[in-house]
Amino acid sequence: MARIVFKPDNIIHEVEDGTSLIDACEEVDSTFSFGCTEGTCGVCELTVTKGAKNVSKASEAEKDYLHPEDLKKGMRLGCQLKVRKGEVVIDWKENQAK
Ligand code: FES
Repeated sequence: MARIVFKPDNIIHEVEDGTSLIDACEEVDSTFSFGCTEGTCGVCELTVTKGAKNVSKASEAEKDYLHPEDLKKGMRLGCQLKVRKGEVVIDWKENQAK
């Protein structure tokens, strides 16, 4: 099992290894939101503050959308993210539209 910490919501949620963040969000009452779910709108921008090695590698869509420096800092597109194992802490700006 893997564990996702939704920092702004104070939610900790356990999922099967390899679960996408989209699926995980359907199971919890998180304020995190998605738009296109295809890696083109940027609504789902987040930062992996812990466990960057425990998530899927950046997709082509993320490489196109995010600056390489931001990717290095842990910024990701949530709709592209899968949690592979272990603990992953995600943080995001709270002004996201719901
Ligand atoms: S929901 Fe549009 S980029 Fe992720």
